[in-house]
Amino acid sequence: MMSLSINERAKNLIVPGIRQFSNQLVHYPDAVNLTIGQPDFPTPDTVKAAGIAAIEKNLTGYSHNAGLLELRKAINSFFTDTYGFSYNPETEIVVTNGASEAIDSVFRTILEEGDEVILPAPLYSAYEPIIALCGAKVVYLDTSDTQFQPSAERLASLITDKTKAVLFNFPSNPTGVTILPAQMDALADVLAKKEIYIITDEIYSENTFVGEHISFASYPILRDKLFLLHGLSKSHSMTGWRIGFVLGPEALMQHVLKVHLYNTVCASLPGQYAAIEALTNNRHVPAEMNKEYMARRDFVYDRLISMGLDVVKPNGAFYIFPSIKEFGLSSFDFATRLLKEGGVACVPGSAFSEYGEGFLRISYAYAMPLLVKGMDRMESFIMKLRSERTI
Ligand SMILES: Cc1ncc(COP(=O)(O)O)c(C=O)c1O
Repeated sequence: MMSLSINERAKNLIVPGIRQFSNQLVHYPDAVNLTIGQPDFPTPDTVKAAGIAAIEKNLTGYSHNAGLLELRKAINSFFTDTYGFSYNPETEIVVTNGASEAIDSVFRTILEEGDEVILPAPLYSAYEPIIALCGAKVVYLDTSDTQFQPSAERLASLITDKTKAVLFNFPSNPTGVTILPAQMDALADVLAKKEIYIITDEIYSENTFVGEHISFASYPILRDKLFLLHGLSKSHSMTGWRIGFVLGPEALMQHVLKVHLYNTVCASLPGQYAAIEALTNNRHVPAEMNKEYMARRDFVYDRLISMGLDVVKPNGAFYIFPSIKEFGLSSFDFATRLLKEGGVACVPGSAFSEYGEGFLRISYAYAMPLLVKGMDRMESFIMKLRSERTI
Protein backbone atom coordinates (compact mmCIF):
# COMPACT_ATOMS: atom_id res chain seq x y z
CA MET A 1 0.00 0.00 0.00
CA MET A 2 1.49 3.32 -1.02
CA SER A 3 2.04 5.63 1.93
CA LEU A 4 2.41 8.89 0.02
CA SER A 5 -0.23 11.26 1.23
CA ILE A 6 -2.79 13.21 -0.75
CA ASN A 7 -3.68 16.83 -0.08
CA GLU A 8 -6.47 16.70 2.52
CA ARG A 9 -8.56 19.28 0.71
CA ALA A 10 -8.38 17.34 -2.55
CA LYS A 11 -9.10 14.11 -0.69
CA ASN A 12 -12.21 15.61 0.86
CA LEU A 13 -13.70 16.75 -2.45
CA ILE A 14 -16.68 14.64 -3.39
CA VAL A 15 -17.77 13.57 -6.84
CA PRO A 16 -20.41 16.07 -8.03
CA GLY A 17 -23.99 15.07 -7.26
CA ILE A 18 -24.83 15.31 -10.97
CA ARG A 19 -22.11 12.82 -11.79
CA GLN A 20 -23.11 10.48 -8.98
CA PHE A 21 -26.57 10.43 -10.41
CA SER A 22 -25.76 10.30 -14.12
CA ASN A 23 -23.37 7.38 -13.53
CA GLN A 24 -26.51 5.30 -13.08
CA LEU A 25 -27.80 6.27 -16.50
CA VAL A 26 -25.81 3.68 -18.45
CA HIS A 27 -27.94 1.00 -16.83
CA TYR A 28 -31.13 2.57 -18.24
CA PRO A 29 -30.45 3.13 -21.94
CA ASP A 30 -34.16 3.65 -22.71
CA ALA A 31 -34.60 6.44 -20.20
CA VAL A 32 -35.36 9.95 -21.47
CA ASN A 33 -32.31 11.89 -20.35
CA LEU A 34 -33.11 15.45 -19.24
CA THR A 35 -29.98 15.95 -17.17
CA ILE A 36 -27.51 17.68 -19.46
CA GLY A 37 -26.72 21.37 -19.12
CA GLN A 38 -25.54 22.20 -22.58
CA PRO A 39 -27.33 23.54 -25.66
CA ASP A 40 -28.48 20.87 -28.12
CA PHE A 41 -27.75 23.13 -31.10
CA PRO A 42 -24.54 22.92 -33.14
CA THR A 43 -21.95 25.70 -32.89
CA PRO A 44 -22.94 28.28 -35.58
CA ASP A 45 -21.43 27.51 -38.99
CA THR A 46 -19.29 30.62 -39.42
CA VAL A 47 -17.91 30.16 -35.89
CA LYS A 48 -16.89 26.62 -36.76
CA ALA A 49 -15.40 27.90 -40.03
CA ALA A 50 -13.32 30.51 -38.17
CA GLY A 51 -11.88 27.80 -35.92
CA ILE A 52 -11.13 25.55 -38.90
CA ALA A 53 -9.54 28.45 -40.83
CA ALA A 54 -7.29 29.23 -37.87
CA ILE A 55 -6.07 25.63 -37.80
CA GLU A 56 -5.50 25.61 -41.54
CA LYS A 57 -3.50 28.83 -41.32
CA ASN A 58 -1.38 27.24 -38.60
CA LEU A 59 -2.69 29.66 -35.99
CA THR A 60 -2.21 26.90 -33.48
CA GLY A 61 0.40 28.27 -31.09
CA TYR A 62 0.21 30.23 -27.86
CA SER A 63 -1.40 33.64 -27.68
CA HIS A 64 -0.84 36.49 -25.26
CA ASN A 65 -1.58 35.07 -21.80
CA ALA A 66 -4.67 37.26 -21.51
CA GLY A 67 -5.89 36.09 -24.93
CA LEU A 68 -5.70 37.67 -28.39
CA LEU A 69 -6.07 41.43 -28.12
CA GLU A 70 -8.52 41.28 -31.03
CA LEU A 71 -10.70 38.92 -29.00
CA ARG A 72 -10.46 41.07 -25.86
CA LYS A 73 -11.55 44.03 -27.95
CA ALA A 74 -14.47 42.00 -29.33
CA ILE A 75 -15.45 41.03 -25.77
CA ASN A 76 -15.40 44.64 -24.66
CA SER A 77 -17.41 45.79 -27.71
CA PHE A 78 -19.98 43.11 -27.02
CA PHE A 79 -20.51 44.27 -23.43
CA THR A 80 -20.44 47.95 -24.39
CA ASP A 81 -22.98 47.53 -27.19
CA THR A 82 -25.22 45.15 -25.28
CA TYR A 83 -25.01 46.35 -21.68
CA GLY A 84 -23.45 49.80 -21.87
CA PHE A 85 -20.36 49.28 -19.72
CA SER A 86 -16.75 49.02 -20.74
CA TYR A 87 -13.55 47.31 -19.62
CA ASN A 88 -10.11 48.09 -20.97
CA PRO A 89 -9.17 45.25 -23.37
CA GLU A 90 -5.45 45.76 -22.62
CA THR A 91 -5.62 45.43 -18.85
CA GLU A 92 -9.07 44.43 -17.63
CA ILE A 93 -10.03 41.30 -19.58
CA VAL A 94 -8.57 37.79 -19.42
CA VAL A 95 -9.70 34.99 -21.75
CA THR A 96 -9.90 31.67 -19.90
CA ASN A 97 -10.47 28.00 -20.67
CA GLY A 98 -14.21 28.17 -20.23
CA ALA A 99 -15.98 30.01 -17.43
CA SER A 100 -14.83 27.11 -15.23
CA GLU A 101 -11.28 28.33 -15.33
CA ALA A 102 -12.50 31.90 -14.76
CA ILE A 103 -14.13 30.69 -11.52
CA ASP A 104 -10.93 28.93 -10.48
CA SER A 105 -8.60 31.81 -11.33
CA VAL A 106 -10.69 34.43 -9.54
CA PHE A 107 -11.16 32.41 -6.36
CA ARG A 108 -7.48 31.46 -6.23
CA THR A 109 -6.51 35.09 -6.74
CA ILE A 110 -8.54 36.45 -3.85
CA LEU A 111 -9.07 33.71 -1.27
CA GLU A 112 -6.95 32.93 1.75
CA GLU A 113 -7.34 30.26 4.38
CA GLY A 114 -10.23 31.02 6.73
CA ASP A 115 -12.02 33.43 4.38
CA GLU A 116 -15.76 33.10 3.98
CA VAL A 117 -17.63 33.26 0.66
CA ILE A 118 -21.37 33.82 0.59
CA LEU A 119 -23.17 31.75 -2.04
CA PRO A 120 -26.91 32.06 -2.70
CA ALA A 121 -28.23 28.49 -2.85
CA PRO A 122 -29.38 26.24 -4.46
CA LEU A 123 -26.46 26.82 -6.79
CA TYR A 124 -24.21 25.45 -9.52
CA SER A 125 -21.96 22.85 -7.98
CA ALA A 126 -18.53 23.98 -9.24
CA TYR A 127 -17.98 26.95 -6.92
CA GLU A 128 -17.80 25.24 -3.58
CA PRO A 129 -14.99 22.76 -4.40
CA ILE A 130 -12.68 25.54 -5.58
CA ILE A 131 -13.42 27.54 -2.43
CA ALA A 132 -12.66 24.45 -0.35
CA LEU A 133 -9.38 23.85 -2.20
CA CYS A 134 -8.38 27.39 -1.22
CA GLY A 135 -9.04 26.59 2.45
CA ALA A 136 -11.94 29.02 2.57
CA LYS A 137 -15.45 28.37 3.80
CA VAL A 138 -18.83 28.60 2.09
CA VAL A 139 -21.66 30.42 3.84
CA TYR A 140 -25.00 29.74 2.15
CA LEU A 141 -27.67 32.34 1.56
CA ASP A 142 -30.88 30.32 1.38
CA THR A 143 -33.09 31.33 -1.54
CA SER A 144 -35.28 28.22 -1.56
CA ASP A 145 -38.13 30.01 0.27
CA THR A 146 -37.84 33.37 -1.57
CA GLN A 147 -38.61 32.23 -5.11
CA PHE A 148 -34.82 31.82 -5.56
CA GLN A 149 -34.22 35.58 -5.24
CA PRO A 150 -31.38 36.35 -2.80
CA SER A 151 -32.70 38.52 0.02
CA ALA A 152 -30.65 41.64 0.75
CA GLU A 153 -31.51 41.42 4.46
CA ARG A 154 -30.24 37.86 4.59
CA LEU A 155 -27.09 38.87 2.77
CA ALA A 156 -26.46 41.67 5.28
CA SER A 157 -27.03 39.28 8.19
CA LEU A 158 -24.46 36.78 6.85
CA ILE A 159 -21.62 39.25 6.42
CA THR A 160 -18.89 38.90 9.05
CA ASP A 161 -15.30 40.10 9.43
CA LYS A 162 -14.25 37.00 7.56
CA THR A 163 -16.47 37.53 4.51
CA LYS A 164 -14.25 37.94 1.48
CA ALA A 165 -16.68 37.61 -1.38
CA VAL A 166 -20.22 37.00 -2.49
CA LEU A 167 -21.09 35.26 -5.73
CA PHE A 168 -24.22 35.69 -7.83
CA ASN A 169 -25.29 33.56 -10.79
CA PHE A 170 -28.24 34.95 -12.76
CA PRO A 171 -29.88 33.64 -14.87
CA SER A 172 -29.37 30.74 -12.52
CA ASN A 173 -28.28 27.20 -12.88
CA PRO A 174 -30.16 25.17 -11.52
CA THR A 175 -33.35 27.24 -11.13
CA GLY A 176 -33.49 29.20 -14.41
CA VAL A 177 -34.55 32.22 -12.39
CA THR A 178 -33.47 35.74 -13.41
CA ILE A 179 -32.91 38.33 -10.72
CA LEU A 180 -35.44 41.13 -10.24
CA PRO A 181 -34.03 44.65 -10.78
CA ALA A 182 -35.33 45.85 -7.39
CA GLN A 183 -33.59 42.89 -5.76
CA MET A 184 -30.33 43.81 -7.47
CA ASP A 185 -30.63 47.40 -6.27
CA ALA A 186 -31.16 46.24 -2.70
CA LEU A 187 -28.17 43.87 -2.87
CA ALA A 188 -26.01 46.57 -4.45
CA ASP A 189 -26.97 48.95 -1.61
CA VAL A 190 -25.76 46.44 0.96
CA LEU A 191 -22.56 45.66 -0.95
CA ALA A 192 -21.67 49.27 -1.73
CA LYS A 193 -21.03 49.83 1.98
CA LYS A 194 -18.91 46.71 2.49
CA GLU A 195 -15.35 45.74 1.63
CA ILE A 196 -16.33 42.52 -0.10
CA TYR A 197 -15.57 41.22 -3.56
CA ILE A 198 -18.50 40.56 -5.86
CA ILE A 199 -18.19 37.71 -8.32
CA THR A 200 -20.99 37.57 -10.84
CA ASP A 201 -21.29 34.54 -13.10
CA GLU A 202 -23.51 35.74 -15.93
CA ILE A 203 -22.79 32.95 -18.39
CA TYR A 204 -26.52 32.59 -19.12
CA SER A 205 -27.12 36.34 -19.67
CA GLU A 206 -27.84 35.87 -23.37
CA ASN A 207 -30.45 33.27 -22.53
CA THR A 208 -32.84 35.73 -20.90
CA PHE A 209 -36.42 35.36 -22.06
CA VAL A 210 -38.35 38.10 -20.29
CA GLY A 211 -37.14 41.67 -19.89
CA GLU A 212 -33.53 42.66 -20.33
CA HIS A 213 -30.64 41.06 -18.51
CA ILE A 214 -29.06 43.54 -16.10
CA SER A 215 -25.47 42.95 -15.12
CA PHE A 216 -24.07 43.61 -11.66
CA ALA A 217 -21.18 45.15 -13.63
CA SER A 218 -23.46 48.01 -14.61
CA TYR A 219 -23.44 49.34 -11.01
CA PRO A 220 -20.52 51.84 -11.05
CA ILE A 221 -20.41 51.78 -7.24
CA LEU A 222 -19.44 48.10 -7.27
CA ARG A 223 -16.96 48.22 -10.14
CA ASP A 224 -13.73 48.44 -8.11
CA LYS A 225 -14.38 45.14 -6.38
CA LEU A 226 -16.34 43.19 -8.96
CA PHE A 227 -15.38 40.31 -11.25
CA LEU A 228 -17.69 39.50 -14.15
CA LEU A 229 -17.40 35.88 -15.29
CA HIS A 230 -18.70 34.95 -18.70
CA GLY A 231 -18.10 32.81 -21.76
CA LEU A 232 -19.48 31.39 -24.97
CA SER A 233 -20.33 27.86 -23.87
CA LYS A 234 -24.04 28.51 -23.48
CA SER A 235 -24.75 31.55 -25.67
CA HIS A 236 -23.14 30.06 -28.77
CA SER A 237 -23.29 26.37 -27.98
CA MET A 238 -19.54 26.15 -27.60
CA THR A 239 -19.08 24.04 -24.47
CA GLY A 240 -16.28 21.97 -25.99
CA TRP A 241 -14.35 24.95 -27.34
CA ARG A 242 -13.50 26.02 -23.78
CA ILE A 243 -13.72 29.79 -24.10
CA GLY A 244 -14.61 31.92 -21.11
CA PHE A 245 -13.59 35.32 -19.82
CA VAL A 246 -13.12 37.39 -16.69
CA LEU A 247 -13.59 41.15 -16.63
CA GLY A 248 -12.55 43.26 -13.67
CA PRO A 249 -10.65 46.37 -12.61
CA GLU A 250 -7.00 46.54 -13.62
CA ALA A 251 -5.72 46.52 -10.03
CA LEU A 252 -7.31 43.09 -9.53
CA MET A 253 -6.95 41.67 -13.02
CA GLN A 254 -3.16 41.93 -13.03
CA HIS A 255 -3.21 39.25 -10.33
CA VAL A 256 -5.90 37.12 -11.98
CA LEU A 257 -3.74 37.12 -15.11
CA LYS A 258 -0.79 35.60 -13.19
CA VAL A 259 -2.92 32.86 -11.64
CA HIS A 260 -4.42 32.09 -15.04
CA LEU A 261 -1.12 32.02 -16.90
CA TYR A 262 0.64 29.77 -14.42
CA ASN A 263 -2.27 27.40 -14.68
CA THR A 264 -2.98 27.24 -18.41
CA VAL A 265 -0.74 29.79 -20.26
CA CYS A 266 -3.65 30.79 -22.49
CA ALA A 267 -6.94 29.58 -23.94
CA SER A 268 -6.89 27.43 -27.08
CA LEU A 269 -5.93 29.62 -30.04
CA PRO A 270 -8.30 28.21 -32.69
CA GLY A 271 -11.04 28.55 -30.07
CA GLN A 272 -10.13 32.20 -29.62
CA TYR A 273 -10.48 32.84 -33.35
CA ALA A 274 -13.85 31.12 -33.31
CA ALA A 275 -14.82 33.30 -30.34
CA ILE A 276 -14.07 36.50 -32.28
CA GLU A 277 -16.47 35.32 -34.97
CA ALA A 278 -19.11 34.46 -32.36
CA LEU A 279 -18.93 37.89 -30.74
CA THR A 280 -18.87 39.90 -33.96
CA ASN A 281 -20.96 38.26 -36.69
CA ASN A 282 -23.04 35.90 -34.55
CA ARG A 283 -24.56 38.10 -31.89
CA HIS A 284 -28.02 37.25 -33.21
CA VAL A 285 -27.59 33.52 -32.47
CA PRO A 286 -28.68 33.40 -28.80
CA ALA A 287 -31.99 35.12 -29.65
CA GLU A 288 -32.68 32.41 -32.23
CA MET A 289 -31.97 29.68 -29.72
CA ASN A 290 -34.11 31.51 -27.15
CA LYS A 291 -37.19 31.21 -29.36
CA GLU A 292 -36.80 27.47 -29.18
CA TYR A 293 -35.97 27.45 -25.45
CA MET A 294 -39.03 29.57 -24.67
CA ALA A 295 -41.38 27.24 -26.54
CA ARG A 296 -39.86 24.32 -24.62
CA ARG A 297 -39.98 26.14 -21.32
CA ASP A 298 -43.65 27.00 -21.81
CA PHE A 299 -44.41 23.40 -22.67
CA VAL A 300 -42.54 21.90 -19.69
CA TYR A 301 -43.85 24.55 -17.28
CA ASP A 302 -47.46 23.97 -18.37
CA ARG A 303 -47.07 20.23 -18.03
CA LEU A 304 -45.55 20.51 -14.53
CA ILE A 305 -48.36 22.84 -13.46
CA SER A 306 -50.95 20.44 -14.84
CA MET A 307 -49.27 17.67 -12.84
CA GLY A 308 -49.97 19.83 -9.79
CA LEU A 309 -46.32 20.55 -9.02
CA ASP A 310 -45.20 23.75 -7.35
CA VAL A 311 -42.71 25.47 -9.68
CA VAL A 312 -41.27 28.94 -10.21
CA LYS A 313 -41.53 29.90 -13.90
CA PRO A 314 -37.96 30.38 -15.12
CA ASN A 315 -37.12 33.37 -17.31
CA GLY A 316 -33.67 32.31 -18.42
CA ALA A 317 -31.03 29.61 -18.94
CA PHE A 318 -32.59 26.24 -19.88
CA TYR A 319 -33.49 24.70 -16.55
CA ILE A 320 -36.67 24.39 -14.53
CA PHE A 321 -36.69 23.44 -10.86
CA PRO A 322 -40.01 22.07 -9.57
CA SER A 323 -40.59 21.20 -5.93
CA ILE A 324 -41.13 17.52 -5.19
CA LYS A 325 -41.51 18.03 -1.44
CA GLU A 326 -45.08 16.69 -1.39
CA PHE A 327 -43.80 13.16 -2.08
CA GLY A 328 -41.81 12.96 1.14
CA LEU A 329 -38.79 11.42 -0.58
CA SER A 330 -35.27 12.82 -0.69
CA SER A 331 -34.59 14.33 -4.08
CA PHE A 332 -31.97 11.63 -4.74
CA ASP A 333 -34.52 8.88 -4.00
CA PHE A 334 -37.20 10.63 -6.03
CA ALA A 335 -34.85 11.04 -9.02
CA THR A 336 -33.67 7.43 -8.71
CA ARG A 337 -37.24 6.10 -8.68
CA LEU A 338 -38.21 8.42 -11.53
CA LEU A 339 -35.33 6.92 -13.50
CA LYS A 340 -35.90 3.28 -12.60
CA GLU A 341 -39.68 3.16 -12.51
CA GLY A 342 -40.59 6.14 -14.65
CA GLY A 343 -37.88 6.04 -17.33
CA VAL A 344 -36.89 9.71 -17.04
CA ALA A 345 -33.54 11.06 -15.84
CA CYS A 346 -33.46 14.45 -14.08
CA VAL A 347 -30.92 15.78 -11.59
CA PRO A 348 -31.82 15.62 -7.88
CA GLY A 349 -31.94 19.11 -6.36
CA SER A 350 -29.53 18.03 -3.63
CA ALA A 351 -26.77 18.07 -6.27
CA PHE A 352 -27.03 21.87 -5.93
CA SER A 353 -26.42 22.04 -2.16
CA GLU A 354 -28.65 21.08 0.74
CA TYR A 355 -30.89 24.06 -0.18
CA GLY A 356 -31.84 22.24 -3.38
CA GLU A 357 -33.20 19.32 -1.36
CA GLY A 358 -36.86 18.75 -2.23
CA PHE A 359 -36.45 19.94 -5.82
CA LEU A 360 -35.63 18.39 -9.18
CA ARG A 361 -33.66 20.00 -12.00
CA ILE A 362 -35.05 19.39 -15.45
CA SER A 363 -33.00 20.60 -18.40
CA TYR A 364 -35.00 21.54 -21.47
CA ALA A 365 -31.97 21.77 -23.73
CA TYR A 366 -33.59 18.90 -25.62
CA ALA A 367 -35.75 18.63 -28.73
CA MET A 368 -39.49 18.86 -28.21
CA PRO A 369 -40.34 15.18 -28.97
CA LEU A 370 -38.02 14.12 -26.15
CA LEU A 371 -39.57 16.63 -23.79
CA VAL A 372 -43.05 15.39 -24.69
CA LYS A 373 -42.01 11.81 -23.99
CA GLY A 374 -40.24 12.83 -20.79
CA MET A 375 -43.24 14.79 -19.46
CA ASP A 376 -45.69 12.00 -20.39
CA ARG A 377 -43.58 9.52 -18.48
CA MET A 378 -43.10 11.84 -15.54
CA GLU A 379 -46.83 12.41 -15.30
CA SER A 380 -47.53 8.67 -15.19
CA PHE A 381 -44.85 8.22 -12.53
CA ILE A 382 -46.25 11.01 -10.40
CA MET A 383 -49.76 9.61 -10.65
CA LYS A 384 -48.41 6.24 -9.54
CA LEU A 385 -46.56 7.83 -6.61
CA ARG A 386 -49.66 9.73 -5.53
CA SER A 387 -51.82 6.62 -5.73
CA GLU A 388 -49.28 4.68 -3.61
CA ARG A 389 -49.44 7.42 -1.01
CA THR A 390 -53.22 7.38 -0.77
CA ILE A 391 -53.42 3.59 -0.35
C1 LIG B 1 -23.50 28.72 -13.85
C2 LIG B 1 -22.40 28.13 -14.65
N1 LIG B 1 -21.19 28.71 -14.61
C3 LIG B 1 -20.16 28.20 -15.30
C4 LIG B 1 -20.30 27.05 -16.06
C5 LIG B 1 -19.09 26.49 -16.76
O1 LIG B 1 -19.03 26.94 -18.07
P1 LIG B 1 -17.85 26.54 -19.04
O2 LIG B 1 -18.32 25.39 -19.87
O3 LIG B 1 -17.66 27.77 -19.90
O4 LIG B 1 -16.66 26.22 -18.25
C6 LIG B 1 -21.54 26.42 -16.12
C7 LIG B 1 -21.70 25.17 -16.89
O5 LIG B 1 -22.65 24.43 -16.74
C8 LIG B 1 -22.61 26.97 -15.39
O6 LIG B 1 -23.83 26.41 -15.41
